[in-house]
Amino acid sequence: MLSVRIQRGQYLGPLVLLLLVGRYVVSGTESTDYSDAEVLPDSFPSAPAEPLPEFLLEPEDAFIVKNRPIQLRCRASPATQIYFKCNGEWVNQNDHVTRESLDQITGLVVREVDISVARTQVEELFGLEDYWCQCVAWSSAGTTKSNRAYVRIAYLRKNFEQEPLGREVRLEQEVLLQCRPPEGMPAAEVDWLKNEDVIDPSQDSNFLITIDHDLIIKQARLSDTANYTCMARNVVAKRRSSTATLIVYVSGGWSSWTEWSECNARCGRGWQRRTRSCTNPAPLNGGAFCEGPPFQRVTCTTLCPVDGGWTEWAKWSACGTECTHWRSRECQAPPT
Ligand SMILES: *[C@@H]1O[C@H](CO)[C@@H](O)[C@H](O)[C@H]1NC(C)=O
Repeated sequence: MLSVRIQRGQYLGPLVLLLLVGRYVVSGTESTDYSDAEVLPDSFPSAPAEPLPEFLLEPEDAFIVKNRPIQLRCRASPATQIYFKCNGEWVNQNDHVTRESLDQITGLVVREVDISVARTQVEELFGLEDYWCQCVAWSSAGTTKSNRAYVRIAYLRKNFEQEPLGREVRLEQEVLLQCRPPEGMPAAEVDWLKNEDVIDPSQDSNFLITIDHDLIIKQARLSDTANYTCMARNVVAKRRSSTATLIVYVSGGWSSWTEWSECNARCGRGWQRRTRSCTNPAPLNGGAFCEGPPFQRVTCTTLCPVDGGWTEWAKWSACGTECTHWRSRECQAPPT
């Protein structure tokens, strides 16, 4: 009596076939786990029905560039027939290129089919709907439809919807340069150029490119003074916006004051001065010069030299033993 336990969820197809030819083969993989198992019936009432076709490859959306036709491809198994339908109508049998093979693992028939779609076919479809194609595959169990693949004519309009504008900004200011690329199919991708070099925000974290394609400079540096251009491209074309010149300027700042100079008068009223310079920082790239005077002057007074003057003589001293006497005076009127 043949009783096979198989793991839940395991694909039954090949095993069932093996059972039908009366062989019992244990697969060599270690994944055969008997603990969480179900018991299959001892015999099958009849051959299992062929399953519905399953798509191994579905057609993908495509763009027609210039006049190059595109290929749509799909593959299904098991499939006795496979055809494309475009915009709800069958594509002429002769326009299909079909290949047939056997799946090595399942032993089921695999069918692959290609069609080509030309620009004129897409252009001839008037109306609001996009051109689309879909694969239909048959097996004895019925039909399966693939997803719809849309075929569009690629283009990129000439004019940017918004171009970046030149600006002058303060050092460390945040800067936003705007760019709205021209309308396109597929939508244009955008790169920013700084003096013809592509800006890579992953290399320079001071740059940020938003989802809307704007360029943000978080803190303007002197080295960000440059020409900026927005580049739009898709499969059809590449376009450049006008160039915006960004100038990062520095406004001047005063140095500290020097010491006061000596009073310039040797005697009496005079003046003394101190200075400062607009170098901290010096203005750059058209930044404003410092406001206010670069020097200050104050008056000062220096005491004048005064000539000494004698006081009156004091009284003569009394006559001494040598018959002399003396008197004195001092240089105190005024003192020097
Ligand atoms: C921008 O480009 C113009 C013209 O090529 C050039 O004269 C100018 O020096 C550039 N400006 C900067 C900041 O690189």
